[in-house]
Amino acid sequence: MADLEALRSRALIELSAAGDAAALDAWRLAYLGRQGAVTRVLRGLGELPAEERRAVGAMANAMRADLEGALAQRQTEAENAAIAQMEAGGIDVTLPGREGLVGRLHPITQTLREMLAALGAMGFQVAEGPEVEWEYYNFDALRIPWYHPSRDSQDTFWLEQKPESEKRVLLRTQTSPNQIRFMEKNQPPVRVAVPGRVYRFEATDATHEWMFHQVELLAVDEGISFKHMKGTLTQFARALFGQDREVRFRCHYFPFVEPGAEVDIQCGLCGGAGCRSCGGEGWLEIAGAGMVHREILENVGYDADRYTGFAAGFGVERIAMLRHGIDDIRNFYANDLRFLRQF
Ligand code: DAH
Repeated sequence: MADLEALRSRALIELSAAGDAAALDAWRLAYLGRQGAVTRVLRGLGELPAEERRAVGAMANAMRADLEGALAQRQTEAENAAIAQMEAGGIDVTLPGREGLVGRLHPITQTLREMLAALGAMGFQVAEGPEVEWEYYNFDALRIPWYHPSRDSQDTFWLEQKPESEKRVLLRTQTSPNQIRFMEKNQPPVRVAVPGRVYRFEATDATHEWMFHQVELLAVDEGISFKHMKGTLTQFARALFGQDREVRFRCHYFPFVEPGAEVDIQCGLCGGAGCRSCGGEGWLEIAGAGMVHREILENVGYDADRYTGFAAGFGVERIAMLRHGIDDIRNFYANDLRFLRQF
């Protein structure tokens, strides 16, 4: 029985030293296997005198059960340790590979870049201006006086200012203030495109957002006439929508141009016959435009007898919607990946 006790403690010491599955298996063979030490003791019981057999047998059986329990516990510990080690290394080679995430440009960024590329090909440089703008550039300098309907507080986000400030500050409602800003700093000839965000204090619906993008166009030079405007804008619209599309110009009033126009493109679905998509019109509006008002040229110090120019403003969301058949502008800023992944 003393031998059994010695065997037991040797087995437990060796078990605690066995660190992995292979070592544990070797230990199991050495003690509990068919040729193992404990098994051999049990098999040899018959050789003992009958009065000892009982006590030694009971002790040997209890020892085998103990060692089996200890082995099971060590096996669990070793498995957990192995998993922890793999996880600490950050690699589980048994897991299937993960697909890499590929980023993409927002559909508005894509549209904006295409617009600027087409304009660049026609000789327009790109400039930018501030989104937080003086009332002067956004309205007064563009001949939009304080009583004009578009100055209604419904339409404009005004910034909070100290009561004593004389010049008011707002979030620009259009990119047109950059006509003034650019001409103040540059002499003709001018060919410039100004992209950017604009803000309107409006309820949102399928065709209105409180923030959207415009691209402003301005060309000023000697001898620029309405026909240059028509040619340039037609060319630009066809670069975006296809060479076979018709473009038309409708008289429209904007305070900073004279004459002014709205620019329509033939509906791509019905080809001009009128359908649901174009509200039965056959045409879709894509821009406001016109010949730069003489007073504006004079106010920035240009010689209005020598120089003339045209300006236009395009809505980027509107163009993206028409090109992709998107029926709700709010999709662009809802950040729903199911929508964004399509572009
Ligand atoms: N700024 C105008 C708007 O937001 C659009 C516009 C109309 C721009 C006529 C122009 C223009 O440059 O000539 O409604």
